Amino acid sequence: MKDKNTFYITTPIFYPNANLHMGHAYTTVLSDIISRYSKLTGKGTYFLTGSDENAEKIVRAAKAAGKDTVDYLDEITGNFKNLFSDLGISYDQFIRTSDKEVHFPGAEEMWRRLSASGDIEKRSYEGLYCVGHESFVTEKDLDEDGKCPDHGTKPEVVKEENYFFKLSKYTDKIREKIESGELEVIPQSRKNEILSVLKDGLEDVSFSRPADKMSVGIPVPGDSTQKMYVWCDALTNYVSALGFGREDDELFKKFWPADVHVIGKDILRFHGAIWPGMLLSAGLPLPRKILVHGFIKSGGKKMSKTLGNVIDPAELVKEYGAEAVRYYLARHISPFEDGDITLEKFKEVYNANLANGLGNLVSRVMKMAEKHVSEYPNISESANNYELSKGYRDAMEEYNIQKASDIVWMRISKADEKIQETQPFKLVKTDKEKAVQIIKEMVIELYTIGRMLNPIMPETSKIIKEAVKANKKPDEPIFPRK
Ligand code: MSP
Repeated sequence: MKDKNTFYITTPIFYPNANLHMGHAYTTVLSDIISRYSKLTGKGTYFLTGSDENAEKIVRAAKAAGKDTVDYLDEITGNFKNLFSDLGISYDQFIRTSDKEVHFPGAEEMWRRLSASGDIEKRSYEGLYCVGHESFVTEKDLDEDGKCPDHGTKPEVVKEENYFFKLSKYTDKIREKIESGELEVIPQSRKNEILSVLKDGLEDVSFSRPADKMSVGIPVPGDSTQKMYVWCDALTNYVSALGFGREDDELFKKFWPADVHVIGKDILRFHGAIWPGMLLSAGLPLPRKILVHGFIKSGGKKMSKTLGNVIDPAELVKEYGAEAVRYYLARHISPFEDGDITLEKFKEVYNANLANGLGNLVSRVMKMAEKHVSEYPNISESANNYELSKGYRDAMEEYNIQKASDIVWMRISKADEKIQETQPFKLVKTDKEKAVQIIKEMVIELYTIGRMLNPIMPETSKIIKEAVKANKKPDEPIFPRK
């Protein structure tokens, strides 16, 4: 039985057919902030991320790059890990679904369970397959030229024998769980969206493809002529990573069900319908929450190489530092709706809120403290997150990272205003005692701001807390003007 004091959070596993872009960085930073906050509240927290490697599009990308698939995967997943490390992502495990020891046993066990429940059936199938989506599509999903509007390619006509998962029979149960909030879909608009899909009734899904048509994939247990459909094995990563299907399944016992799967809006159907169906069929508990974020655009348009508006998170980190990128994603993108980023906007808010707002406050307060306060203010070391403002905690617990960040910046501007109003640097000449008192209060407020920043901007939080403890202004501005 899962302990209340544990917390399991996942990101989607990313396709390594190209380097990660800003949208992927968003999912991961958002999850990292939630995970760090959970760790701060003292919960035993496990944060999973990884890569989705058994997909045909990866084989094609490797070919196009003139590389061997395994080398290509190692290179791209290496880049993923480097980016995550640059962004200060504190994951506990990075799962690769090509890992035969870690992932395959769980995927195989899942298949056996679905099969034992009588939910796997061989059928002959004719349909349209979009490699970009790694999914069958229907005529109504295509544009007037018969192309997939998201990928600009014509789907492949597929006529073959494959195994089907009888998802349709779980429609009502899944709907009940989502309606009742036992499986919570956040925000409400996404809950409505998935409920309307469920209202129409779910269709059975093709869950395997003939092995000779697939260069990668996990062989179907008991029938090596077929390989599992990539989404069947990909979704299972959330349990295989914890040891489901293996002997060493302590993590699975400790952490499953997931407290929250963080996903983007395009993969809601997979997580809100297929995955719960699989879990119900396998007799496993459902995740508690699915947090569905929107898409990040640039200048109101989808980022695309042709438009030249793609923003590379690695480049942005190089120029402004990871903390600034985390700041932007936390505060200037809503976790529940589409967001926007342009280089101009980034620079503008960097200068206004980091170089000026936060950076300036730290140096002003610490300069005064260094000069006029001899002993450190009494800050309780054992102070934990629960002492932070209720508004902030509530926002964090609702995963409203944007609101939590706004609360921090509100305190930053209030602190600025207080300096303006009370002018302790002048007051010190006429009423030293009072001025020192005000400065001490400012230092404590700065420390609190530092603590609130911990999950959002962990390095900045550390710098602020260290400066307060050393009673010293940081040598360099934390955020130099750009
Ligand atoms: N491999 C699947 C997920 C399997 S999970 C069992 C996949 N991978 S992906 O690399 O294409 O996308 C990963 C995540 O990035 C998804 O949550 C997707 O919604 C998100 N994003 C992709 N483009 C995005 C934006 N432009 N903005 C925000 N998130 C976006 O899907």
